[in-house]
Amino acid sequence: MKKLIDRITAELETAFSAAGYDKKYGKVTLSNRPDLCEYQCNGAMAGAKEYHCAPIQIAGKVVEQLAGNPAFLQVDAVNPGFINLKLAPAFLREYLKEMAADERLGCEKAAQPKKIILDYGGPNVAKPLHVGHLRSAIIGESIKRLGRFMGHDMIGDIHLGDWGLQMGLIITELKKRSPELVYFDEDYTGEYPAEAPFTISELEEIYPTASARSKEDEAYKEEAMQATYLVQHGHRGYQAILQHILKVSVADLKRNYENLRVEFDLWKGESDAQPYIPDMIQRMKDEGFAYMSDGALVVDIREETDTKEMPPCMLLKSDGASLYTTTDLATIVERMKLFAPDEIIYVVDKRQEMHFVQVFRCAKKTGLVGADTRLRFLGFGTMNGRDGKPFKTREGGIMRLQHLIEDINEEMYTKIAENPAIPKEEARETAKTVGLSAIKYGDLSNQAAKDYVFDMERFTSFEGDTGPYILYTIVRIKSILNKYVEQGGNLADVTPGEPFSDSEKALMLEAVRFNEVMENAFEEIAPHKICAYIYDLANDFNKFYHETKILSEEEQTKKSGWIALLLLCKQILETCIGILGFEAPDRM
Ligand code: ARG
Repeated sequence: MKKLIDRITAELETAFSAAGYDKKYGKVTLSNRPDLCEYQCNGAMAGAKEYHCAPIQIAGKVVEQLAGNPAFLQVDAVNPGFINLKLAPAFLREYLKEMAADERLGCEKAAQPKKIILDYGGPNVAKPLHVGHLRSAIIGESIKRLGRFMGHDMIGDIHLGDWGLQMGLIITELKKRSPELVYFDEDYTGEYPAEAPFTISELEEIYPTASARSKEDEAYKEEAMQATYLVQHGHRGYQAILQHILKVSVADLKRNYENLRVEFDLWKGESDAQPYIPDMIQRMKDEGFAYMSDGALVVDIREETDTKEMPPCMLLKSDGASLYTTTDLATIVERMKLFAPDEIIYVVDKRQEMHFVQVFRCAKKTGLVGADTRLRFLGFGTMNGRDGKPFKTREGGIMRLQHLIEDINEEMYTKIAENPAIPKEEARETAKTVGLSAIKYGDLSNQAAKDYVFDMERFTSFEGDTGPYILYTIVRIKSILNKYVEQGGNLADVTPGEPFSDSEKALMLEAVRFNEVMENAFEEIAPHKICAYIYDLANDFNKFYHETKILSEEEQTKKSGWIALLLLCKQILETCIGILGFEAPDRM
């Protein structure tokens, strides 16, 4: 469906032409004076220069052309040259009807679908998930769902951090504790046990212990580095341990992400990219891109327009070891080979921006990707506590993701259990559903790049710009619709009508923006725009609801129109929260 704003722009363009002006001046925008009009066109102002006359003259002539146009209830030329527009009720009704009849609510799929790899989540194997990983998962998941809704082929890849020193640390600590394990017997040639020698909780304790020890004990650290080297270079026993770590850790990660309603299509990791490194490096050397500098192998990535110092991109350290950058470059090689995507989007902490500038420049310069492959970095800010510092536990430690979720759910449960009509068990389940909306909406309603304060009290509130408020609104609509059906109404028979009140028209005007908002949110990869939209829609609905006695309305066409409008709002809200990655309960 053509966007409503484009349809009115088309009317204005025709009017500009008919009045003897260039149609390019016909662009319509939402009104920034909602007290005066609903839409406006400022083209007369821009045209005044070209036609050497007062803007109001142009506006006046255009308005003359619009007389009797069925799209408008009112068209005014206002000093110094604005054209103020109000939509005709019937025009609005027809648009809403079309929307309601369309299963995509008027939002068209992309004409040219792209294949897009989304690199998000990025947890590190064997280390517990913490709140720092929360943002990447939440934002990335919503972008993936939004892209899919817009018809693109979205491939979500978790890109596990499974290639670091943490592996060597765990192996070292394990060896200290249980040197008798077969993995440490250098003469062993048989099969290794299928069962891991540790559980996830043990693993979660082993890593921090080892990490702390390595910071105090130089020899221990040396040993861990050696073990890292060995596991990366094919040591049989260590590789068997690595597989155990991966298996145990991934199973746990899957559980955690499932609770967050985050689903990855690919569970690849840094280790998968390693086989691509030698060839990649050889090629970069052969083609003259990579050269030795202070013992390290680097690629110069400076560009003429640089205003700041741009250090070269390092591929191999002087000891021959590869780096985070090398792995990310090799991952690009792998992704191009396996998927040939049109675009790769990275959802990563904005503090890693420089790393990605280097990776992207190097990949483009050395031809790992062609000019038509877009590499995009979506850097997100830090989640802070109420003290404005990075979010911590009450004891000052790093907050585990799982604990954060438990805290939110507990808080939600207390609120929901206040309603005596809801059995305890249901309240527990509902608390999880609403809790997730609190966390996700609290995050997504901020522009991703900005830091934000995680405020439990505000996020879990049923009022204000929060997830629970949106859910509460949906629940309210559902309950009205249910009652309508109980009264004998049939939801399949209702059709949108013309607005009867200002609050109803305001709600309609918000509803018709759905396709425009979705397109724009995807173009700018900005889920916060969806949040802002549904918050406005929910507010408009609640205002209308408080002013209108819907269920007791006698006039059937009026009532049917209202119910149709509610149904549409419910569908819009549910579609939007689905894209944001949460859902609404039936009651709360
Ligand atoms: N594992 C990394 C971290 O915890 C994030 C990975 C981001 N993705 C990437 N392709 N580098 O910092």
